[in-house]
Amino acid sequence: MKKILDSYNAWADQYDNNINPTRDLDKNVTKESLSNIDFFKVLELGCGSGKNTEWMITKADKLVGLDFSKNMLDLARKKITSKKATFISADLNEKWPVDDNSFDLATINLTLEHIKILDHVFNSLFMKLVQGGKCFVCELHPKKQLAGSKAQFEENGTEIVLDVFQHSEQDYIQNAEKAGFNLLAKEDWYDNKKDIPRLISFLFEKPK
Ligand SMILES: C[S@@+](CC[C@H](N)C(=O)[O-])C[C@H]1O[C@@H](n2cnc3c(N)ncnc32)[C@H](O)[C@@H]1O
Repeated sequence: MKKILDSYNAWADQYDNNINPTRDLDKNVTKESLSNIDFFKVLELGCGSGKNTEWMITKADKLVGLDFSKNMLDLARKKITSKKATFISADLNEKWPVDDNSFDLATINLTLEHIKILDHVFNSLFMKLVQGGKCFVCELHPKKQLAGSKAQFEENGTEIVLDVFQHSEQDYIQNAEKAGFNLLAKEDWYDNKKDIPRLISFLFEKPK
């Protein structure tokens, strides 16, 4: 089995173009959830190909995207030429190369399913945000994960399934609250109301 990093380097070529309802719903959910919130300095974790960066820099003055996949970062740099955005190679399980208390919004989309231990991410997020800063998380829904859905793509006719870790709704909330965040909103997102939800999103705030 390929490691997560190798898988994303291999997936990058197709990431923006293959059929992927999770990616497409996440893009709409991010816009819908953040369009009524003011933000100026954004830290985007697991920014990937810059799918959400493109819209966020229409509102923000500055955005720093972190990701460990060189090929995903190359795509993001090619797509986003605005000087407002900087993309940095970093493993989210290690120390992040950005200053503390310097962002008013952090986002993490479709990435925490690849992170086994959540507390390092939430503790680091708390340090990087200013007081009153918000943290938006949007992930494959735990119910969808339990139903067997996993990040995957096809390479030369073979289905490549990525390593993923199961996190419950309470895992996200408890790790965020333990780091010091308050939960402002939680939502389930559907393709179709009759199905199980595809995505779950949370909006947390670092107390003012
Ligand atoms: C499914 S993609 C999502 C990309 C983007 N957030 C989006 O919504 O389109 C997951 C991204 O997380 C990155 N990633 C996974 N584990 C990571 C880690 N430990 N450190 C940094 N990036 C990681 C991958 O390289 C990939 O670009």
